[in-house]
Amino acid sequence: MASEKTLTVLGIETSCDETAAAVVRLLPGGRGEILSDVVLSQVAEHAEYGGVVPEIAARAHLVYINDMLRRAMDDAGVDRRDLDAVAATAGPGLMGGLLVGMMTAKAIALAGKIPFVAVNHLEAHALSPGLVEGLLPPWLLLLISGGHTQLLAVEEIGRYRRYGTTIDDALGEAFDKVAKMLGLGYPGGPAVERMAERGDPDRFTLPRPMKGREGCHFSFSGLKTAVRTAILRLETVTERDKADICASFQKAVAETLADRLANACARFRAEHPGLEARNLVVAGGVAANRALRKAMEEEAARHGFRLVAPPLHMCTDNAAMVAWAGALRLARGHSDPLDTPARARWPLDPDAEPAAFAGVKA
Ligand code: KG4
Ligand code: ZN
Repeated sequence: MASEKTLTVLGIETSCDETAAAVVRLLPGGRGEILSDVVLSQVAEHAEYGGVVPEIAARAHLVYINDMLRRAMDDAGVDRRDLDAVAATAGPGLMGGLLVGMMTAKAIALAGKIPFVAVNHLEAHALSPGLVEGLLPPWLLLLISGGHTQLLAVEEIGRYRRYGTTIDDALGEAFDKVAKMLGLGYPGGPAVERMAERGDPDRFTLPRPMKGREGCHFSFSGLKTAVRTAILRLETVTERDKADICASFQKAVAETLADRLANACARFRAEHPGLEARNLVVAGGVAANRALRKAMEEEAARHGFRLVAPPLHMCTDNAAMVAWAGALRLARGHSDPLDTPARARWPLDPDAEPAAFAGVKA
């Protein structure tokens, strides 16, 4: 169902370490337009800790949010009276940050007498290809970020089937931890990718977690431990060693992803027979990794899927995707009361097979 009229929605994203605001328009017929999209990354605040510190993140959101909102409204050239609704990420994420974004959105809704829409962050990622690529569901989504590692079938707006998730670490987290062990700084993904380019991917024998198993779940903690063990075995860690470790780690990740994707593609094909175009959308910061992208593209093609990788600023956390998900929900008559709580956990597919130990023999 497409909306009949144009909807202009302000979106707010504060679930992790990006303070973001955006104004998006849903046009009659269902196409989207980004009027503004501002993101402030808190990487510098968290760098010395090697990961996101929830308390620091919450305080930083509080400091930056008003300025980001002003910039989003100015860039868009709209007035508060032009807004049809305000949407904020309500979960899953870090509680302190979620509360900052939601309270701000609720205040704007109350003052402007406009609807408030509580957005699921995963749903925002899942639906973003509709905004930037004009894609229509269904599609298969692989979300690989610092907080999530999920394979989802996006059936239609509001209906998702989770094929798999991680039973331990998120993939971005594994990259960050490997980088930390090697003293490569934070965020670790880009640093590991750069080192890997110069390394020998076959020097270290590392596990391919879950490879060959049924289903689409992921696991990365064993791989991370294997990297730690390999480092401890070395007397001194040279630049050559670091490059070889990064290359070997990245190769193990690529093979693991390809194996999980093969199962997901097969399941999606079986559940969607006769589909004309099959799209595999990748999102999340790790999707920026060129070596992994190439491996995923090849695997997708092997199963008759086209790899769709939206531009990086749309793959990583942003508020345009939140405004877009909010606009799509609003167009379907959904908005949320002002006492809606933030949710640290909020699965997109409540019927999904539980992740912990799902089908995994200890
Ligand atoms: O989606 P994102 O920007 O933020 C959240 O997780 O919320 O993802 C950040 C994650 C970090 O763990 C970072 O190390 C990883 O994405 N990442 C990468 C690359 N660029 C970012 N991992 C591997 N290769 C990269 N080039
Ligand atoms: Zn995210």
